[in-house]
Amino acid sequence: MSDDILSHHEAGVTTLTLNRPARKNSLTSAMYATLADALAAAAADPAVRVVVVQGSETVFSAGNDIGEFQAGPAADAGEPPVFRFLRTIAAFPKPLVAAVCGPAVGVGTTMLFHCDLVYAGDNAAFSMPFVNLGLCPEAASSLLVPQMLGYHRAAEALLLGEPFMAEAALEVGLVNRVVPPSEASNLAAAQARKLAAKPLVSLVETKRLMKAGNAAAVQDRIREEGEAFRRLLQGPAAREAFGAFMEKRRPDFTAL
Ligand code: COA
Repeated sequence: MSDDILSHHEAGVTTLTLNRPARKNSLTSAMYATLADALAAAAADPAVRVVVVQGSETVFSAGNDIGEFQAGPAADAGEPPVFRFLRTIAAFPKPLVAAVCGPAVGVGTTMLFHCDLVYAGDNAAFSMPFVNLGLCPEAASSLLVPQMLGYHRAAEALLLGEPFMAEAALEVGLVNRVVPPSEASNLAAAQARKLAAKPLVSLVETKRLMKAGNAAAVQDRIREEGEAFRRLLQGPAAREAFGAFMEKRRPDFTAL
């Protein structure tokens, strides 16, 4: 496992920590591959009962690495690691707990819709600025965000790309509890330990049943969004947005 993702296993709980602070924990293809592998291994390993995903006290994740977006997909064919990660986290059968502090941008927010328990620092800021980047939602967020937030709040989040803070996320049910940033990781760990003490077969069956009504639709939507996302990635709006981010200027979409 690379240093960009740290993994720690203790007493039935595997903790995956996003650790790329110089780039605000933005996620590279290598990191998605590591996360997908770690989740697949955790699902298969009877010693793993719960997985915790966390960033640091100041940043959860700045979303996909924009430099990699700009570079385009890798030349080698095959499923991009990001989609393998999304498929895997959406189908992860055991309890998944997140601790989120600071910015959670793009996939930093959308992955939380696949977590069972989410604990946020009061500095958490969630945003899904796909449209602002000339892109479209991913991780089945076009399905799950309207389901959780209601259509009009989802439109603010996904069409306007407006960020929302921890308290708003608590109100709509995306997070379970808001605590000082220094306590989020400990709280997630404590809740994970409680889950790890319960019978795993019952946890897995209960999670499966709670998700059963939506599971196929979620995987279908991840695929459908993926096709649109890949097309938009090559488009002029996305190229303008990525160039603007790199050059630290405002994008100009007036001709697009
Ligand atoms: N991809 C690549 N590099 C990123 C990045 C990303 N998604 N997010 C941040 N970085 C880099 C910045 O370019 C900067 O690099 P530099 O030190 O060489 O200038 C460094 O990380 C620190 O980021 P900075 O923007 O200075 O930190 P901040 O605390 O002011 O803001 C964020 C943090 C997360 C709010 C801001 O970085 C941001 O909006 N990032 C882009 C998020 C995004 O649009 N992601 C794609 C979602 S689909």
